Amino acid sequence: MLRIKQVSEELGVPVSTIRFWQKEFAEFVSPGRTDGGQRRYSESDLAAFAQIKQLVYGKKLPIDTARQRLKQKGSTGIDWSQQVILITGGTGSFGKHFCRYMLDQYSPKAIRVYSRDELKQHEMRMEFQDDQRLRFLIGDVRDADRLRRAMEGVDMVVHAAALKQVPACEYNPFEAVKTNIHGAQNVIDAAIDGGIKKVIALSTDKAVNPVNLYGATKLCSDKLFTQGNAYAGGKGTRFACVRYGNVIGSRGSVIPVFLKQKPTGRITITDQRMTRFWITLDQAVELVLKGFQYMEGGEIFIPRIPSMRIVDLAAAIAPECKIDHIGIREGEKLHESLTGEDEGRHAYKYKGMYVIMPSYSWWQRKNYVGAEKMPDGFIYTSDSNEEWMSVEDLRQIVFGSKAAEIAPVRKVARVR
Ligand SMILES: NC(=O)c1ccc[n+]([C@@H]2O[C@H](COP(=O)([O-])OP(=O)(O)OC[C@H]3O[C@@H](n4cnc5c(N)ncnc54)[C@H](OP(=O)(O)O)[C@@H]3O)[C@@H](O)[C@H]2O)c1
Repeated sequence: MLRIKQVSEELGVPVSTIRFWQKEFAEFVSPGRTDGGQRRYSESDLAAFAQIKQLVYGKKLPIDTARQRLKQKGSTGIDWSQQVILITGGTGSFGKHFCRYMLDQYSPKAIRVYSRDELKQHEMRMEFQDDQRLRFLIGDVRDADRLRRAMEGVDMVVHAAALKQVPACEYNPFEAVKTNIHGAQNVIDAAIDGGIKKVIALSTDKAVNPVNLYGATKLCSDKLFTQGNAYAGGKGTRFACVRYGNVIGSRGSVIPVFLKQKPTGRITITDQRMTRFWITLDQAVELVLKGFQYMEGGEIFIPRIPSMRIVDLAAAIAPECKIDHIGIREGEKLHESLTGEDEGRHAYKYKGMYVIMPSYSWWQRKNYVGAEKMPDGFIYTSDSNEEWMSVEDLRQIVFGSKAAEIAPVRKVARVR
């Protein structure tokens, strides 16, 4: 926590001005108090003051207009109403959720959905009731020229397009390389040529110590995005990644499988020791928005989220069922890892995330005031997590208000 004098020094603004801004922009700054009643400012207060300084000093806006601007920017610190976004893979599970969330919460100027299949785009257009803020562009990330054209006039890019089915990538390895690696390079090139401000690419837990081609191509893509900043030169385009694991409840994930098996009286578990992180699509979108807010280029943003044991999930969904253990599948991991050992060395705890800083950066870095460096040997895995979902938590999430109608919670032996 910072004293007012430190905030003043940090921003190069007199203490009296900070006091004045504190009064005028009270809704955006909320300092704590010491026992003696002294104000202490957090990092987000400091960030809010930096934005106020930019609007009042930089853009020379009157106080009322600056206040209005800050309101529009909302909690992400970005005025999305002024941004044109392009999302590759916009018709996928993440892409659709991202579009819905952004249109509802932030109403950007436009979102360009970039993907190959016209049917998926048509269905999405119908689902979104022909929302005029959405533009549908047919294109392949393998096609550099098309990407370049699609990014004209765009401010921010989310790169979500990928081939992501593990067996499909193994059976069609060249295709996985073309989409996930060459596609990533094309997105980087087009973004730099188009003068895009910020690009966030979606990574996955499978990129950590990869055991299959999908993971290996995503690791390569992560490296291209974290180091792609080196090519931006005077254009100033910045690239970063967000990384998370399986989205709970998404197609093919374990919850729909358990729910389908429940009426048969038997459910299948690969290994009773298995653990997973718990992330929802909302949280995945919010992580991308936080990435846009804080990125300086080259970071991998990882959410700090709870873990769950698969046996607890089974007990929450189908306590009455018998469990068949079918053994771990090819390429499946017992626990999810979101950081590799080498990455842990560059990891910081910051604003509800772990941020892996780039190993090499030649561009300016000045954010992350107060970020906590993680100790040597740090790794973030679903089995070593400090935060866990209980059977009751899981049941509440899966069944909501109906949780009480389900059979009583069965006690589960802890297996680690
Ligand atoms: N789902 C998860 O649990 C999860 C977890 C961690 C990370 N991720 C990452 O999150 C991202 C999005 O995943 P998702 O679950 O939304 O995937 P998804 O539902 O399979 O959607 C993939 C999207 O990419 C598009 N696409 C595929 N190949 C393309 C190409 N060559 N050019 C342009 N567009 C292409 C697809 O549309 P068309 O087929 O019409 O082109 C679709 O819109 C991926 O990068 C994935 O690695 C996912």
